[in-house]
Amino acid sequence: MNNSIQWNNQFLIGNDIIDDQHQTLFKIAQKSNYITDITNIDEQEELLKDILHELYEYVEYHFSQEEALMDDILYIDTDNHKQIHKHMLGELNTLTVEISYSKLSEITAKLNEFVQVVFVKHIKIEDQKISDFIVKN
Ligand SMILES: [Fe+2]
Repeated sequence: MNNSIQWNNQFLIGNDIIDDQHQTLFKIAQKSNYITDITNIDEQEELLKDILHELYEYVEYHFSQEEALMDDILYIDTDNHKQIHKHMLGELNTLTVEISYSKLSEITAKLNEFVQVVFVKHIKIEDQKISDFIVKN
């Protein structure tokens, strides 16, 4: 896996609002790609903390928007999708706690894994289903 976080247009699901928010989310996470450009370790940690905090807040906002949309369109799989969101927010929260006692390289690797594997998989499978549902109904 490439160790820099990168948006790819293959992640587009065809719903402008959701797609825009997913791209914003990547923009926030991508700031972590430059963490090693900083030589001071304390500054690195500060920056990573800020990024995680900003990302958590944005993901929380994005999920609430997506959930409102699902409620709005009477999406069939809403409960399951909300559960997945809850689980993902929990994972992200764990990272914000772990940063105080883990190596920064470990946290960046986990952040990378969260965005590029967990989040991308969620976009491609679960969020795609919402977009398809809107097209069909
Ligand atoms: Fe979602």
